[in-house]
Amino acid sequence: MDDRILDEHEHDNEEYLELSLRPVRLSQYIGQDAIKENLNIFIKAAKMREEALDHVILHGPPGLGKTTLANIIANEMEVNIKTTSGPAIERPGDLAAILSSLEAGDVLFIDEIHRLPRVVEEILYSAMEDFFIDVVIGQGDEVRSIRIDLPPFTLVGATTRFGSLSAPLRDRFGVQLRLQYYDMESLQYIIERTADIFEVSLNEDSMLELARRSRGTPRIANRLLRRVRDFSMVKGEDEISLETTNHALKVLEVDPEGLEPVDHKIMNTIIDTYGGGPVGLETIAVSIGEEVVTLNDVYEPYLIQRGFLERTPRGRKATAKSFEYFKKENMD
Ligand SMILES: Nc1ncnc2c1ncn2[C@@H]1O[C@H](COP(=O)(O)OP(=O)(O)OP(=O)(O)O)[C@@H](O)[C@H]1O
Ligand SMILES: [Mg+2]
Repeated sequence: MDDRILDEHEHDNEEYLELSLRPVRLSQYIGQDAIKENLNIFIKAAKMREEALDHVILHGPPGLGKTTLANIIANEMEVNIKTTSGPAIERPGDLAAILSSLEAGDVLFIDEIHRLPRVVEEILYSAMEDFFIDVVIGQGDEVRSIRIDLPPFTLVGATTRFGSLSAPLRDRFGVQLRLQYYDMESLQYIIERTADIFEVSLNEDSMLELARRSRGTPRIANRLLRRVRDFSMVKGEDEISLETTNHALKVLEVDPEGLEPVDHKIMNTIIDTYGGGPVGLETIAVSIGEEVVTLNDVYEPYLIQRGFLERTPRGRKATAKSFEYFKKENMD
């Protein structure tokens, strides 16, 4: 089978590091308590009935642990996992090949499931609901459709854009889980755990500062810790100091709220160019030269969560908090 369709091995260094940091059991997965409690019950019940777990959709902003959770689900169910992604499955035949390679109870993980081509998505409907697919074979006059029965399996889908899923697909997921930004306490645990794996120590204040500036996102927390560790090492510290942490974060252009240059561009555009809004996301995207999708999935959710940005029917608006924060900054 084509390597691109099933990417079980990741080569990229960054991704390799990420892999080594991934918790493998539900009990090691920090935070997201409601999700863990639910999954724990559903997994236990499915195992007691000796059935495949119901299909699961995981959604939420990037870096919150969707891929990690998909792998944990397979581990906890004690089944194999096959991993692929929406854009990698181009034709119905690609999906048919993957589906017919599954064994009873297996997990099929489709990342970025909102990017599945329509013709492929339609094949999934019968696969998810009744565990069979109709495959069209032959050409010209010889065209016929054959039915392939599938073993019961669990589809785990992940997406940053739940709203882009079609209703028929969305409704076929029995378990729908939305990941939330992590609170400070969970982020501190995650940083502590990563520091342990890296065998570095950092003092309490550094840990707090990193947690505060991680945008509620484990991937960012881990990335910042890696960079801060570099600065500290070069300085010859035994323990990562707050001073080094602050210096590194400044160099990395991460502000005290965890906001990056793009966040600043977004907010400054809304405030300075559009008088605080409301202004359409497309207009903002054009003004700062970013993709609408990126603003939508990556930047906006956090700005809204932190109370800097408001979504109104007529567009995006800067909040009073935002005026205060960014004006203050502009006067510096
Ligand atoms: N609950 C958690 N506890 C500990 N570490 C976590 C947790 N969630 C995520 N991580 C860490 O964060 C990193 C990113 O997680 P993951 O790749 O699962 O995110 P994602 O939601 O799939 O992101 P994307 O939308 O970009 O695919 C992982 O390497 C993992 O180490
Ligand atoms: Mg992922």
